Amino acid sequence: NNYKFGMIGLGTMGRNLLLNMADKGFSVTGHDKNLQMIALLKEEGKAHHLNGFADVKDFINSLEKPRKIILLVPAGAIVDNVINELIPLLDKGDIIIDSGNSYFADTSRRDEELKALGIHFFGMGISGGEEGARFGPSLMPGGDKEAYAMMKDVLEAVSAKVDNEPCVTYIGPGASGHFVKMTHNGIEYAIMQLIAEMYEFLKNGLNYSNEQIQQFFAKCNEGRLKSFLIEITANIFLVKDKQTGNLLVDMIRDQAKSKGTGKWTSQIAMDLEVPIPTIDSAVAMRNLSKLKQLRVSLENDLGKSTPVKVDPEMDIHLENAFFFAMVSAYAQGMHLLQQASRTYEYNLNLAEIAKIWRGGCIIRATFLSDIYQAYSRNPELGHLFKDENIQQQLSDSLDSTRKIITKALNHGISVPAFAASLTYFDMLKTGRMPSNLTQAQRDYFGAHTFERTDEEGIFHNDWNSGN
Ligand code: 6PG
Repeated sequence: NNYKFGMIGLGTMGRNLLLNMADKGFSVTGHDKNLQMIALLKEEGKAHHLNGFADVKDFINSLEKPRKIILLVPAGAIVDNVINELIPLLDKGDIIIDSGNSYFADTSRRDEELKALGIHFFGMGISGGEEGARFGPSLMPGGDKEAYAMMKDVLEAVSAKVDNEPCVTYIGPGASGHFVKMTHNGIEYAIMQLIAEMYEFLKNGLNYSNEQIQQFFAKCNEGRLKSFLIEITANIFLVKDKQTGNLLVDMIRDQAKSKGTGKWTSQIAMDLEVPIPTIDSAVAMRNLSKLKQLRVSLENDLGKSTPVKVDPEMDIHLENAFFFAMVSAYAQGMHLLQQASRTYEYNLNLAEIAKIWRGGCIIRATFLSDIYQAYSRNPELGHLFKDENIQQQLSDSLDSTRKIITKALNHGISVPAFAASLTYFDMLKTGRMPSNLTQAQRDYFGAHTFERTDEEGIFHNDWNSGN
């Protein structure tokens, strides 16, 4: 009856997070129905005070009260099944922390259901993959603030550190932790798509060899683009396929899979009426990649694009354009968080969120410090583009961004996420958009009314009557 924290789900993520907790001196215990996972946990953690049980009752009885149980099981119905199995075994005041990539509306529902039973429920985003779980992830816990106090020490201990500061903070009430993690993943999709478009530009636009591509990404990672995703991209271009001796990346099918978090980000952004076009285009391009047969047959019918002539200055423009597009993608994600915070009363601290994303997570990047500083200087910023430092950096990269996108489009190289990032920026700094015409059309065909520039009120015109 003496283990401090429990973990249900001893797969890669759960086991590694539990070992991380044990490393930091916490006594922990795990539960998994799969005996092999328990054996692995005991083997990998033999130097520590930990235990594992295949029987859920034994597991529950091994925990100190109030019990603190982390779930790391696949998102969806399994989470409900596990919770339902736990409910009769738990006492009031116990804490369940769901650390999967659960849909935030599911987290809200579970929170309400468990609150009624006196059980604290946390939706906690965890990012950083296997390596992160084992040695320091970024953690995004949302739920009851008082219950967080009981978790704070262990979460801070296991999380990644940047400048000695833990990459975890109390995110807010209800499902806010999972909402923030979902948005993290939306940004992750956007940046991955931007990197894919850069790759396409280098490979089919500039005719770079794999070696040159590797060097390009490695160089990018030395400057202001320094980030986990750029770093692993450079590494990918070093790995050979054992079977064929080719570069492994060349042997991988060009159809991107997904588990839903990016799509949810776009869906919710539509519901909240927040434009996040770079993330939307990343989701759309994953879907387009799945249409392999259609793509091949249309390539046969219509032919593919012609390569751009290599221009030695293109490298630097591409780096700048990527920087610009990346900033735009982060800005869209932060704007979504700001609106969600209002709508769902999450009371999010955007500076703190940027701060805990600086380490441990998939979208960690040097640039996150700029976002952190922007929202620290002014928590009521309204939009990242309102920060002077960000404005300066965007202005400095704008010319290169237009050059790259124009060049790409002129040569039939698709850069939808780059273009979305740029047009988002261009439109956001347009005081008067062409939407007056849209309103006129709506009123014309459906009497949907319009507002006037020179007078308050709602107006309708009989458009067919001449003037
Ligand atoms: C992370 C990742 C992680 C997962 C992605 C993959 O932060 O550690 O985001 O949660 O790898 O969700 O998502 P897709 O399978 O949808 O690409």
